[in-house]
Amino acid sequence: MAKAAVNFACTECGYSAGRWFGKCPGCNAFGSLVEETPVSLKAASAAKPLLRLVDVDAEEATRISTGVPELDRVLGGGLVPASLVLVGGEPGVGKSTLLLSALGAISAGGRRALLVTGEESTAQVKLRAARLGGTENVEILAETELDAVCATLERERPDVCVIDSIQTLYAADMSSAPGSVGQVREAAGRLLRVAKEENVATILVGHVTKDGAVAGPRVLEHLVDCVLQFEGDRYHAHRVLRATKNRFGSTNELGVFEMTGEGLIGVPDPSELFGKTLPGEVGAAVACALEGTRPILLEIQALVAPTDLAMPRRVGTGVDPKRLAMIVAVLARHAGVPLGTADVFVNVAGGLRIDEPGADLAIALAIASAQRSAPVREGVAVFGEIGLTGRLRTAAQSERRLEECAKLGIVAAVAPEGTRSRSKIRVSGSATLRDALRAGLESRGENPRKTG
Ligand SMILES: Nc1ncnc2c1ncn2[C@@H]1O[C@H](COP(=O)(O)OP(=O)(O)OP(=O)(O)O)[C@@H](O)[C@H]1O
Ligand SMILES: [Mg+2]
Repeated sequence: MAKAAVNFACTECGYSAGRWFGKCPGCNAFGSLVEETPVSLKAASAAKPLLRLVDVDAEEATRISTGVPELDRVLGGGLVPASLVLVGGEPGVGKSTLLLSALGAISAGGRRALLVTGEESTAQVKLRAARLGGTENVEILAETELDAVCATLERERPDVCVIDSIQTLYAADMSSAPGSVGQVREAAGRLLRVAKEENVATILVGHVTKDGAVAGPRVLEHLVDCVLQFEGDRYHAHRVLRATKNRFGSTNELGVFEMTGEGLIGVPDPSELFGKTLPGEVGAAVACALEGTRPILLEIQALVAPTDLAMPRRVGTGVDPKRLAMIVAVLARHAGVPLGTADVFVNVAGGLRIDEPGADLAIALAIASAQRSAPVREGVAVFGEIGLTGRLRTAAQSERRLEECAKLGIVAAVAPEGTRSRSKIRVSGSATLRDALRAGLESRGENPRKTG
């Protein structure tokens, strides 16, 4: 009898080869290749009749609202029936919490919602459910065997099913361990088939690796209709949900949540929450940054304090330290803001992070405001990239940024020269950083600095 071919696959990237390697040739990870037993393919069945698009019943395409508006928005208006959604996120970020409250709202709307839990016992889920409330009608199945899960789905045919998590499922007919590439791929493939055949909208929870990618093969991301990433800082209550792939909607949408004792509460307008400064306060500026492609207003705070250190400190929370050092140097060299004998601290409000160069100018303005003890003009938002020569470069998608500013009652914006505004916002276009500081900061006599 011929020996079955042995295959080795990488658990990180899905690379597969006929022999074992200590280091994966695909992604250079060490010790990530595991043995996989190939599944025998069945013979092709008889030909099927074809359908013209015009004859397709479009009724199926009405979306199911999850009852969590921020989640609906990221999904592109709700769950599409029979679709497969993958939700990834760091441990403890709140995946199970978010999906349980969504299931609760779906079941309250008269649809059948099923939670398949492989990670927690039914009693543990019950504890969380008691905390969240409104989840009485959610059905629950504690099972990790793939065949049993698929058989249950085929019999019960719920409208929405959450699998928490895909890595705990295992197919008994495969020899590899649960969570390995082969198992995850097999589980996702089988669930996809059941989802399409039985019209079950399925949400898979996936663990992420230390790099932030969904653990298991990339293949999983191609298989599903929608990939959502749930991100958040362990020490802050705010969580951000974004789509990295969506077959039925845009990937530009961003959902913001706040983690509380009663579960995740949606924050419908993050700019309203993070993009406010106190009028007249020194060392604070409102940046209009792009989060992905969605503009969001953020308060940037800066503190400039005299120091005796030979190497003054430049500490940034939520901003890239290299960019901060660059901005401090350009301020000193080209804009007449001496910072050589001062410590500079910069913080982005709400524990959010900005990596986008369009926020440079707001950081510079906050630092200059702190250094000169002159507040940023009231009702002004700032965006623009700073070059090493002290010249400003236009920021991407300025029109969308200005629209977001207009929504939040901003009256004026300080931006690079050539930024056109179609809204009511007055734009002071500045060619250089020095001009921008003049346009953005109140001169000292204009408004006496507030104390206490
Ligand atoms: N009583 C509580 N009050 C406030 N927050 C809580 C409370 N209980 C739990 N949490 C929050 O819920 C988080 C855990 O949520 P959840 O179990 O949904 O995360 P998860 O992403 O499913 O994690 P895992 O990957 O381990 O399954 C905790 O990190 C904590 O921030
Ligand atoms: Mg969980």
